[in-house]
Parts: sequence; C-alpha cells; structure tokens
Amino acid sequence: MNIEFTTLPLAELQASALAVYTFESAAASSGTVEQMPAETRVLLGELEASGELTGKAHECTLVHRPAGLVARRLLVVGAGKKDKFNTNQLRRLAGTAVRHVRARGLHDLAWFVGDLSTDAPALQALVEGAIHGDYDADRYRTERNSERRIDRLDLATGGVLPAEPERAAVERGRVIAEAQNFTRNLVNEPSNRMTPRHLAQHASDLAARWGLECEVFGPEDIQRMKMGAFWSVAQGSEEPPRLIVLRYSHPQAPDSPVVGLIGKGITFDTGGISIKPAENMHEMKTDMAGGATMLGVMQALAQLKPKVRVVTVIPATENMPSGKAYKPGDVVTSMSGKTIEVLNTDAEGRLVLADALTFAKQQGCTVLIDAATLTGAVSVALGNITTGVFGWNKEWVNRVLASAAATGDRMWELPVDDEYRDLYKSQIADLANTGGRYGAAITGAMFIGEFAGSTPWVHLDIAGTRWSNEEKPYLGKGPTGSPVRTLVDVLMRC
Ligand code: BES
Ligand code: MN
Ligand code: ZN
Repeated sequence: MNIEFTTLPLAELQASALAVYTFESAAASSGTVEQMPAETRVLLGELEASGELTGKAHECTLVHRPAGLVARRLLVVGAGKKDKFNTNQLRRLAGTAVRHVRARGLHDLAWFVGDLSTDAPALQALVEGAIHGDYDADRYRTERNSERRIDRLDLATGGVLPAEPERAAVERGRVIAEAQNFTRNLVNEPSNRMTPRHLAQHASDLAARWGLECEVFGPEDIQRMKMGAFWSVAQGSEEPPRLIVLRYSHPQAPDSPVVGLIGKGITFDTGGISIKPAENMHEMKTDMAGGATMLGVMQALAQLKPKVRVVTVIPATENMPSGKAYKPGDVVTSMSGKTIEVLNTDAEGRLVLADALTFAKQQGCTVLIDAATLTGAVSVALGNITTGVFGWNKEWVNRVLASAAATGDRMWELPVDDEYRDLYKSQIADLANTGGRYGAAITGAMFIGEFAGSTPWVHLDIAGTRWSNEEKPYLGKGPTGSPVRTLVDVLMRC
C-alpha cells in the first residue's frame, strides 16, 4: 500500500473514495464531517434525518458523486460515542474503511485526517489499521479476495504541511503493520507448507533481507546441547526439528538489556500419543504463532532500529504420535538439568520452551519474554479477545501491559503464585508437565517460569488471541498477528 500525504483542499481531492468519520447523536455535524463543504453537509443532514446515517461505530455510508466534492464517493464511517474515541478506535475505523471500499472493488482511498494532521500517534495508528485491514487469509483460493486490495492511501490534511515527526509516524505504522501481516501469513500457512524447515527458511530469508544474524540448529545439535525436553517432543516426527536463533543489536546500545524473545514453534500439534480429538485439530497448524510473532517483531526491529539488543529463540518441531514418539510417563532431562515427568504429551509447548529459555539465558539474555499458544484454558478464561500475561517481575509485566494498552492489543495479567507449584509436582521427577484442569493456564505458565530462574520473565499465552473466529468490520477472519505491536513497542521503549 502506497501511503502519501496530500495538502489539497478537501473539495478538490480526487479519489475513488474519500473517508471521513462522525460521532453518534450528531452524525451530520461532528468528527471530520464538520470540516466538509457546506453543500456536502446539507446532504449528510438529509441522510441523518432519514435515519440512514447514525454515526454508530463502524457504520459505513457510501455516497456516490457527493455534492460539493470532486471525489467520486464519500465514505462516512461511524466512530461511535465521542467520549470513547481514541487512537485505538481510530486504528479500527481505518481498517473498517479499507475493508468497506475494497469489498466494492476500489483500489484507492483518501482519508481526511483534519485536526489529527499533527498528531503523530494517531497517524501511526491510522496507517496500522489500514494495512492490517487490507489483509485476507485466502492465499490458496484460486479466485482471491485479496486481489481486491487498496494500493493507495492518501492522507488528506486539508492544507497543513506534515512535518518530520508525522512522516516518521506514518513510516513506523507501515513497518509495524507490514510486520504484523508477515506474522499472519506465517501463522496461516498449513502444516504441509510450514514444517520446522520451512519456518527456519523464512527466518534465514528474513535475516538475509534485513541484515540480522541468523543461526539454525538441527536434530544432532539439539541432542548435543542436551535439550532433552525439546528433543522428547521432536523425536516422534519424520520432520526434523529446528532451533532458530536470530540476533539484532544496535551498535550504540552496549548498556541496554539483552531481551530474549522466545516463541513457541510447534508447526503442527496432534497432541502426540495423548492425541487430540479430530474435531478442530486442523487449527493446530497455528501452534507456531508465538514463533511467527517473534519473526514479525524482528522484521520490524531491523527497520526501526531501536537502541536495544535482542536474541530471538524459536524451538520448532511437530508434535506427532509414532513408534518413536515420547509417551505419557516418560521422564526426560532438560538442558537445565531439571528432570520432567511427561504426564501428557499434549503439554508439549512448555517442554520445548523450557530448553529454549535455558538456551536464551546461556546466550546472555537479561530478560526473557515468551509468546506461546500454550493452553486452551487461557481462552476459557479470557476468550479470543485478550492475551494472558504472566510473570513474577512486576516491572517487566507492567512494561508489557503498558505497551499493550498503547498499541491497542488487549492483555490481562493472571496470577502466578508459589501455592500453585504443588499442582505440577511429580512423584518421580523434579516437575510434571501438567498441573491438571484447574488453573491450567497458570500452571502452564509457571512451569515455563521455572526455567527462567531469577531472570525477569514475562509469558504471553496467545492460544486465544492468535486467531479471530469472526469477521469484524475492521478485520478479516483468521490469523491476527497479535501481539507483534505490543512487543515492538516494548523494545522501542527499552
Ligand atoms: N497448542 C495447545 C494449546 C491450544 C489450544 C492452542 C487451543 C490453541 C488453541 C497446547 O499444546 C495444548 O495442547 N495444551 C493442553 C495442555 C494440557 C494437556 C495440560 C490444553 O490446553 O489442553
Ligand atoms: Mn499440545
Ligand atoms: Zn501446542
């Protein structure tokens, strides 16, 4: 999507559609609608009087050959209640506008930014929402929806000349949203096209393209490094596992924290010998969403170049049943030396993450953030709307929550407490890999935390938020790329 500012007066803007927004209960005279030419406002007044225009959130009213404008169409987007309006709402409205016009075969859109012409965060959010909205998960349909794309977005200021901070904000929005869409593409790939080897190839292509360091380890390395927990999951598959490591470091950041980003990379989770029911098993192609998130974050970092050091670690494998597969009751020795009794082979995420965290610590990470589609339980608690956040270290948990709030990702902290540790005790080993049904998102998180030790650590359970089951006005059904924006923001503030 080509994004440009234009300073032409509103009435003279040429576009297939010009988008403005308006608030509830003053639909013809609020929001950016207020700044329309008088003739156009008369027209909108009539639409409001007839009840067709209400300003309700995400309502789209498309007027052809609008009076007072050269633009071929006027799109009035309802912005909902005025007192609830903020940059996060604006991000969504931009997505709504893009989706509405491209569904009608249009390829360009002008957005009247009006008073927000000098509001850099608002412009960033607008661009993010537009690019995020212009995505469809239908890659393998022979007649693709996504051929209906918006190629051009004009940000119309109505005369104000945008300054450097505004231009930078637009560029930042573009980089972040494209990174998020890159993550969505990876998550969307079926497991026959996204094996651990494919995922590693994507990582090394990304590194080559953007000048990041990349190292990929195979089955022999994984065993040589004594990653017994990772290997136990990998051993049952015909597809060889990969440990993917990417590094980013800013030359002027010698004193910054070394942030370890660890992403669960199960390219297909059958459950293993503790096999999952057939219904919905296809959804388990998304079990590498944590890893895909970290690759998206790295793509954004390489372009935004914040003053920080980052090591991304993605343990990638399938979880398959076979004659070589690990079995319930097996005891394995993790890279840290801790022994684990496998009570359920479907609790594989925490096993691969245990060794990935140990590896990240050995690489010198001073803070660890993991993202994983870890538990069904987190979606029972928080639905598909909110990511579960866990960690002992208040400072880092709060940094993540603050960035989530700032970037419009919904996140909520769930408790970790020593009292839960009894739930995943083993009769014969140091730990068991499940803690039963109750509090399963918490015991899953805490199991991973055991391998962080005293290093500050934050865990994001994205099992619910990785995927949107419903079509929204601003977002198609499918992979969400959550929480790429939050993590990029955390790193930009380091
Ligand atoms: N990958 C699943 C979790 C999951 C479920 C992700 C639904 C996305 C949607 C994970 O490996 C898993 O199977 N977890 C088990 C853990 C249990 C065996 C302790 C679960 O949540 O049932
Ligand atoms: Mn599983
Ligand atoms: Zn899994």
